[in-house]
Amino acid sequence: MPQAQVLDGKAIAAEIIERIGQQISSKPDQTPPGLAVVLVGDNPASQVYVRNKQRACTRAGLHSELIRLAADSTQAELLATIDQLNARDDIHGILVQLPLPDQMDEHQVTERIAAHKDVDGFHPHNIGRLLLRRPALRPCTPKGVMTLLQRTGIALPGRDAVIVGQSNIVGRPMMLELLLAGCTPTLCHSKTQQLAEKVRAADIVVAAVGIPRFIPGDWVKAGAVVIDVGINRLPDGSLCGDVDYATACQSAAWITPVPGGVGPMTVASLLQNTVQAAQ
Ligand code: GUN
Repeated sequence: MPQAQVLDGKAIAAEIIERIGQQISSKPDQTPPGLAVVLVGDNPASQVYVRNKQRACTRAGLHSELIRLAADSTQAELLATIDQLNARDDIHGILVQLPLPDQMDEHQVTERIAAHKDVDGFHPHNIGRLLLRRPALRPCTPKGVMTLLQRTGIALPGRDAVIVGQSNIVGRPMMLELLLAGCTPTLCHSKTQQLAEKVRAADIVVAAVGIPRFIPGDWVKAGAVVIDVGINRLPDGSLCGDVDYATACQSAAWITPVPGGVGPMTVASLLQNTVQAAQ
């Protein structure tokens, strides 16, 4: 029975964070890269993600600040917070954790962050740069996925890649990253027909739908690379991905676990982007 090799995102992210830490500690007279994280409200998952981001900053010697706004804050208050951070010389990266409460307009918020401090890579400027093959600050999760794909040692040019999920923060920029790497990406979504057949034809599958075990193992082509971006909490409190891991392992050559796959890579990419923004 063939068994996939596991892409250990947790270990690879730890290496990247360690390397950034060495870089920063080798220049003790320089201002450390500074990241401001803005968290609006008390979404439990967001609180976990923000804590992980801050812990990684501390470990690597970056300056990080958490700005918390109440769930009933206004759009104007959030925009004013961003304006203050845009103006500060000691803050090189600004991240507003998503999702935002319903009364807020995510697009206006994203566009208010100075493009050169947009370490999430969500600003139209940064998405446009990626589209035009001149990437600047790149969205963290797709960037982390590309780092994982490079670690497989598999040559990417010419590969057929299927992305399942068309979100602004994962699916769409993931398509652009894969295209830039020379793959032929197909971006699938809820209206896609014959999804199973499309996934079965893919050399690389990126699952980012947010539905537990949505992709069964028998959709995975023998020898494919399976990247699972999903982090779903089951009723028993455990986490699982968008791919049925146990069965996908039977045919994939490489697979990411959940947790410990893509999640830590998003954090590592964020630190890389903050260092890049500070340079
Ligand atoms: N919510 C889920 N993923 C992300 C991310 O990468 N950045 C931000 N800001 N919010 C998120």
